[in-house]
Amino acid sequence: MKKIFIKTFGCAQNESDSERVKAFFAEKGDVFVEDWKEADKAVINSCVIRESAENRVYGLIDKIKKFNPKIEIILTGCLVPITKKKITGVDQMLPIKEISFDLEPLRDKKRAALVTISSGCNNYCSYCIVPYARGKEISRKMEDILKEVDEAMEKGFEEVVLIGQNVNSYGADFGDESSVSMGKKRIKSLFPKLLEEVAKRALKKVSFISSNPWDFSDELIEVIAKYPNIDRLLHLPFQSGDDKVLKNMNRGYSKEEYLDLVSKIKKHVPDVRFSTDIIIGFPGEDEKAFQNTVDVCKKVGFEIAYLNKYSPRRGTVSAKLYRDEIPMAEKKRRWNVLNELVNKKSE
Ligand code: SAH
Ligand code: SF4
Ligand code: F3S
Repeated sequence: MKKIFIKTFGCAQNESDSERVKAFFAEKGDVFVEDWKEADKAVINSCVIRESAENRVYGLIDKIKKFNPKIEIILTGCLVPITKKKITGVDQMLPIKEISFDLEPLRDKKRAALVTISSGCNNYCSYCIVPYARGKEISRKMEDILKEVDEAMEKGFEEVVLIGQNVNSYGADFGDESSVSMGKKRIKSLFPKLLEEVAKRALKKVSFISSNPWDFSDELIEVIAKYPNIDRLLHLPFQSGDDKVLKNMNRGYSKEEYLDLVSKIKKHVPDVRFSTDIIIGFPGEDEKAFQNTVDVCKKVGFEIAYLNKYSPRRGTVSAKLYRDEIPMAEKKRRWNVLNELVNKKSE
């Protein structure tokens, strides 16, 4: 029996992974502590979305090792697949792929059960490291997901969050190999069917993250409209409102297509609200391009926007192709404009 500390960096998918990591170590008889100063082992579930996120991982490893040189440090998460050299202070690399989905997660959240429906991503947005860190998209079997939902309900959970980097392409990898999506090609998705199966259950709320605009289908809109327990706050990241920037981001839709999609959803789901992710200061984002992003915000009326200043991420296409040309001061100014427009207004 070892005292084990788990630190989770990054997104909801990492939080969900950590709940299985916990189950993995609990099975070996380890117990969990809240403070790394009391631990024999520290498991760090890493995020590498920006260089600064990656640096926070190294920073924590150093801090823990300095305090207790005898502690065993186990590294898992998104840093493991992309790291080439040995990381000082790390005793063991645990690829997240090795943590089975058959383990019943030890859930941290009290209200909502996080349920991973797919891992990886095939979208290759030019700024994003995730497809390299998590590999190609692999969907879990529908019956396994539903079993996990049922288990969570038996434990008393009334809310479920379905998680994937792009939930809309769930199941696209089930067909024959030739129909597997590579890049932004529309393929038959089983997400509407999965969402319907989950929503049919006696759950108070069913949410999902993230949903990409380019393959958000009419069938999905119908399912959302049909089941009132599907969350009316829909997260629909648009990243930029400018067609040229969107193209260079390899997002697979235009400003008009995004706005049309939002209108269509609003028409069929009248009480819908939206949240979004925006990248500020992507290379080539001149004032006119930025105003297109502002315009999308005005037209949609987001409840929340997660505002990310562009940061070139080593290993991605945009970091290789484009110079990070927008000065930090200008990124901050644009950040403030959008924050005032969207987040302050809805406070
Ligand atoms: N799969 C999810 C999000 C993954 S990353 C989706 O497609 O919505 C979460 C957010 O981080 C992205 O939506 C984007 O806004 C931001 N992001 C990713 N790479 C970035 C980079 N290099 N610089 C700034 N923000 C970035
Ligand atoms: Fe990254 Fe795009 Fe995949 Fe989201 S959809 S994880 S932003 S590559
Ligand atoms: Fe998530 Fe960070 Fe990995 S945002 S997918 S934990 S790189």
